[in-house]
Amino acid sequence: MIQKYRFGTPFPTESVVKELEITAGTLPYLTVSEGDSLSFSYRMDADDAVYGLGQNVRGINKRGWLYRSKNCDEPSHTEEKNSLYATHNFLIVSGKHRTFGLFLDYSGIVSFDVGYTHLDTLVITPEDGNLDLYLIEEDSLLAIVKSFRGLIGKSYIPPKWAFGLSQSRWGYASEQDVREVARRYHENHLPLDSICLDIDYMERYKDFTVNQETFPDLPKLADDLKKEGIRLVPIIDAGVKIEEGYDVYEEGVREGYFCKRADGSNFVAGVWPGRVHFPDFLQPKARKWFGEKYQRLIDQGIEGFWNDMNEPSIFYSEEHLNEVFDEIDELKKQELDIDSFFHFQSIVSGINNNESDYRRFYHNVNGKMVRHDAIHNLYGYNMTRAAGESFLTRYPDKRLLIYSRSSCIGMHRYAGIWCGDNNSWWSHILLALQMMPSLNMVGILFCGSDIGGFLMNTTEDLSLRWHALGVFTPLMRNHSSRGTREQEPYQFDNIEMFRRVISVRYALLPYLYSEFMKAARNDGMYAMPLSFIYPEDPLACDVEDQMMIGESIMIAPVYRQNAAGRAVYLPERMKLYRFRGAESVTSEILEAGMHYLPVALDEVIFFVRPNHLVPCCKGADCVADLDESTLSLLGFVETEASYTLYHDDGFSREYDNPANFTTLTLSADGTKTASDDRITLL
Ligand code: GLC
Repeated sequence: MIQKYRFGTPFPTESVVKELEITAGTLPYLTVSEGDSLSFSYRMDADDAVYGLGQNVRGINKRGWLYRSKNCDEPSHTEEKNSLYATHNFLIVSGKHRTFGLFLDYSGIVSFDVGYTHLDTLVITPEDGNLDLYLIEEDSLLAIVKSFRGLIGKSYIPPKWAFGLSQSRWGYASEQDVREVARRYHENHLPLDSICLDIDYMERYKDFTVNQETFPDLPKLADDLKKEGIRLVPIIDAGVKIEEGYDVYEEGVREGYFCKRADGSNFVAGVWPGRVHFPDFLQPKARKWFGEKYQRLIDQGIEGFWNDMNEPSIFYSEEHLNEVFDEIDELKKQELDIDSFFHFQSIVSGINNNESDYRRFYHNVNGKMVRHDAIHNLYGYNMTRAAGESFLTRYPDKRLLIYSRSSCIGMHRYAGIWCGDNNSWWSHILLALQMMPSLNMVGILFCGSDIGGFLMNTTEDLSLRWHALGVFTPLMRNHSSRGTREQEPYQFDNIEMFRRVISVRYALLPYLYSEFMKAARNDGMYAMPLSFIYPEDPLACDVEDQMMIGESIMIAPVYRQNAAGRAVYLPERMKLYRFRGAESVTSEILEAGMHYLPVALDEVIFFVRPNHLVPCCKGADCVADLDESTLSLLGFVETEASYTLYHDDGFSREYDNPANFTTLTLSADGTKTASDDRITLL
């Protein structure tokens, strides 16, 4: 059951797709304070857990920290941070006495004090008093999530090739560099489905342009690589370079599609290309205009994109930069002492993404000028929606790949995300695991972290362990920053170890894709905390480094430096599978309880629940080459197990066609059946 409560006059975020009546009564359980500022508080029991808040630092249970919904370009995902790139104002309080979900449909900044100021108190404080609050009560955690997802609409589904491995790096500077990546992948028999083009492919960082010197024939490059099963995925940034003669800039100025200053002039920010204007993605016309520009690259053979810097990230505004220069001129006249030196340091380091800059520009919302900070958190969503809407209109029968850095609830209907600029740190493998279920709760199913780590120098063992987690994340992309150690699998000594790990992804794709599609179609979760399945087991509820993936399996990745294995908690008897490459598989049944399991660097392990099945195939060099007409069934069958496999063409949007479903059944005596004779079971 969902109840909607209205406070003030909310800005229409368009996060919700289902209209509900506003409840007249008072909000139960929470104390509402409507004095100077609105806030909601709740006294938590000692063992209440709090789940949700989407993309954020810290663990699965969000208790014990202060989170702030304010989209920001935050490249350092450390524990003391309060915000990352996204706003996902949904949480679940899970307790013995009371369990409920809350969603704040709100465009401004919200602080979630989850037992930070007072251990036992949750306090939610929006910046002002204009929002819709939804209270969701169902009889399980998953049912709360499903109910919420019914409210916000179905999740985006990418083409199937997007589930293959993607290789990326900021710094593939030319066509030769890109061909070299493809060549070395093939030469080393490493599967690959896409290569991302970072800002290097553009002509001086201008959106929808291609540098003709370094990428002289993009259509040919895209076509040649597609013949090898590899697609190119270019980046698009939010800011449009100010340059006479650049048509995107000129059209935007002419049509009034850019964000304005208070005096009506176009706001100028500095980002990669130097001075840019920001498209006013809140205007439907500007969205349509920008969304159609993607066609330029689609016409050159492109089928996927990533949208970046769309918080939006601001290196500087002209106004603020001038203020800083003036202040520095003053400081130059003095001898810098303890105070003035630190002041100098803080004004310089505070130039980028400065709060004051987000108050300098406006959006045209139905003819009314709305200052950016009031709708800041909706910006990335609407940039990506521009692309998503255009793809849906132009390609009603074909899926295109798109994922964004910034997001907000609602964007999950148009795209996935990648988790932004992490570091080559062991702790970030764990963070990547922990973020996944919180993202799934808010409908973002297609997601993944930069495997190997984006910033800092990676190591071979860290990369291997991260790929082993990546086997299970819907987006499996190795990405790194320029200036860091090169981290394509073939850069390391033990390429065959990477091959073994990556090939498991392809072997498991029948199961992983099927589980993803079922989660998307049924408003379910692809990655779930153990507490969602074993709510009565206090040990399972405490586990923060294992995850249920789909209905049949649990994973337990290794994320510690030099660890030869790890301790795993099994809430019930399960069958452990060890894969060392797609072909080398062993299994053993383990009793419920704690186990220490050795895990080699090139091994992928997972656990199958009793009476559950996992269909898999032989693996291939790319998704298109997978032979799924013959499947093997892994499973732990004590009596009988059956599995409904979702299998489609991977391109069309015919998700609900009954022909895409096959029921596979396996009995303890080994008898197998499949409802679809296209699938042969081994
Ligand atoms: C941002 C993105 C990163 C990208 C870089 C250059 O930092 O998050 O993924 O490589 O910009 O475009």
